[in-house]
Amino acid sequence: MGHVKIENLTKEYVNRRSVKRQPGDAARPGEIMRVLDNVNLEFQDGEMVCVLGASGCGKSSMLRIIAGFDTPSSGRVLIDGKEVKGPSADHIFVFQHNGLLPWMTVWQNVELGVRHISDEQEKRHMVFEFLDMVELTGFENHYPNQLSGGMQRRAELARALVVNPDMLFMDEPFTGLDYLTQLRIREEVVNIHSYIGKTMIMVTHFIEDAVIMADRIIVMGDRPTKVKAVYEMKFERPRNLETNKELAEIRDDIFLKLGVSYAV
Ligand SMILES: Nc1ncnc2c1ncn2[C@@H]1O[C@H](COP(=O)(O)OP(=O)(O)O)[C@@H](O)[C@H]1O
Ligand SMILES: [Mg+2]
Repeated sequence: MGHVKIENLTKEYVNRRSVKRQPGDAARPGEIMRVLDNVNLEFQDGEMVCVLGASGCGKSSMLRIIAGFDTPSSGRVLIDGKEVKGPSADHIFVFQHNGLLPWMTVWQNVELGVRHISDEQEKRHMVFEFLDMVELTGFENHYPNQLSGGMQRRAELARALVVNPDMLFMDEPFTGLDYLTQLRIREEVVNIHSYIGKTMIMVTHFIEDAVIMADRIIVMGDRPTKVKAVYEMKFERPRNLETNKELAEIRDDIFLKLGVSYAV
């Protein structure tokens, strides 16, 4: 459970606003913008993959299609051999920035993930366990706006994990966090991944996070995007960019692939 195959995936958006409407030609088609250009990729069961690419190249579009929230223009996505036709809330969870419901407490937010469980005691046990895992014990009755950004993100992580999804998709989960909090959450995600062993696909624009965390890094090219480079990251964890020269070389290589010459 947790194998993803992307076959010849193409996505085009019709950009209606760019077309000046003339009276009487309401049916005139808009300009077509190709975002994903025949993308082929495979994610193995239990793998932690980071996807990097310039802003606006189509990373979120790809993730939304894999998660079933959007449809491809052509090509398809197979999860465990079955074509994705729509979102599957039970198996897959998209970890979203600012996804907590502000009128619910931390406990209630996490409990949402297990609302289908009728056994109250089991439900309580699960919520308790996952809040403990992300070190939020003691904050159950707080509302999201009473938490720091990092704590909010950990609560979101608990809510995603309590669902026990086969896969976890994360779209820039560290954006907006201060540097130290980002490092802590990164460590948390790596620990959780090694603990639960689920397939995780994380879109990020932090190259160093990808180098520290990933089993494999996918670098996407500019729009219309294709896979530009793939890095197998068979390095022991914890990883240290300061001491491991090979890691630093990969980082610099990715910077170059993304059109930035690092450390010049
Ligand atoms: N629903 C949509 N309709 C039209 N254009 C879209 C839509 N979603 C995204 N786009 C455009 O597609 C391009 C890729 O967007 P996105 O996948 O969000 O990129 P990324 O996540 O890599 O920054 C952008 O130019 C964006 O404006
Ligand atoms: Mg995006």
